[in-house]
Amino acid sequence: MTAYKDLSGEELKVLKSQLEKEFDEVKAKNLKLDMSRGKPSAAQLNLSMEMMDVLNSSSDLIGEDGVDCRNYGVLDGITEAKQLLADMMEVPKDNIVIFGNSSLNIMYDTIARAMTHGVLGSTPWAKLDKVKFLCPVPGYDRHFAITEHFGIEMINVPMTATGPDMDMVEKLVAEDEAIKGIWCVPKYSNPQGITYSDETVHRFATLKPAAKDFRIFWDNAYGIHHLYEDKQDYLTEILMECKKAGNPDMVYKFSSTSKISFPGSGIAAIAASDANLKEIREMMKVQTIGHDKLNQLRHVRYFKDIHGMVEHMKKHADIMRPKFDAVLETLDRELGGLEIGSWIAPRGGYFISFDAMEGCAKAIVAKAKEAGLVMTGAGATFPYGKDPKDSNIRIAPSYPTPEELKTAAEIFVLSVKLVSIEKLLENADR
Ligand SMILES: Cc1ncc(COP(=O)(O)O)c(C=O)c1O
Repeated sequence: MTAYKDLSGEELKVLKSQLEKEFDEVKAKNLKLDMSRGKPSAAQLNLSMEMMDVLNSSSDLIGEDGVDCRNYGVLDGITEAKQLLADMMEVPKDNIVIFGNSSLNIMYDTIARAMTHGVLGSTPWAKLDKVKFLCPVPGYDRHFAITEHFGIEMINVPMTATGPDMDMVEKLVAEDEAIKGIWCVPKYSNPQGITYSDETVHRFATLKPAAKDFRIFWDNAYGIHHLYEDKQDYLTEILMECKKAGNPDMVYKFSSTSKISFPGSGIAAIAASDANLKEIREMMKVQTIGHDKLNQLRHVRYFKDIHGMVEHMKKHADIMRPKFDAVLETLDRELGGLEIGSWIAPRGGYFISFDAMEGCAKAIVAKAKEAGLVMTGAGATFPYGKDPKDSNIRIAPSYPTPEELKTAAEIFVLSVKLVSIEKLLENADR
């Protein structure tokens, strides 16, 4: 494969007209394909259907501790659900509080509490002139939407192959008291599929922030979402690491069963130190008498324990793997060696992150749309929707069928090629 940059203007123009013909042919098919949001496919949702049968009108709805799950009571989750999520989140049961159906909701609430009431006695963030958050980029758009919503200034921190640029994180948090937090997706990150290295986790646990109320928002949404049995990433558990480093209160961990059972109908939890959880429970009890215990019970009766959950995740992996492989195979075959984009083959999670030539991402997404393929909006992986290089595109292979995905990937690579050629010709004209 000759790199496009090594082709002459004439060669690029010939190639362009060939590719345009191919593009017009696909366009004429009037396809409707979607690789935008990371939703499980119907086949994945079908995996959990038996969960709908574990509770019925003749079921014993009394929990392990004798609690009647049909009634009010139990603020922070039934014991058996706490155990299940504690095992999933690799923390002791007493360091868990179960919330409702969404971890994103817990993250929103956690920031809202800090804004209105402060964190362990600190000044409420809303009373400060300035509050800032570090945002590893590319990252998860809904995290950035929360901090933007509360008027928190977001600072981009580049991701590396081992996690966020820790030199930058250490320096910034040590010198700026207005920096109150950092968003992290530490395992199979959204969108790159990167897992933070042991050293990165250790450096997080030993941070010396200027702000006493600085918190690491550790969103381990993809902790058990491996794609392969023989190639799996390992993430050091941060709550224990923070405790060992003498910073027990510095991290809030979040997770949910959204992409394990049913998104929007799963259970979500926060894991943190005793002091943090005490404060959270105090405020939570004003907000609710308790969350949905029947759903908690349903999840425990269905999965039984963490081993049941791990087995279940293998079935998800069997559905996801061919989809990831189809996209990666197309990227390798069609774009390998052309030097017009780079990507990482993840070992888990929900996304493949693609970096196009600078200034091309928006145009590629628009081009794909012309042929009926919807991608995540370019820029979405950055705070304020602004990718300074206009380069990153998030590919979400989970939802389409494998056949649709093959066509979608073909449209994508065609769009990348065409837009890149246009860019190269434009640059050559200058
Ligand atoms: C990193 C990350 N965190 C959280 C969520 C949403 O989780 P939940 O359904 O528990 O709110 C997603 C969903 O895509 C995600 O990618």
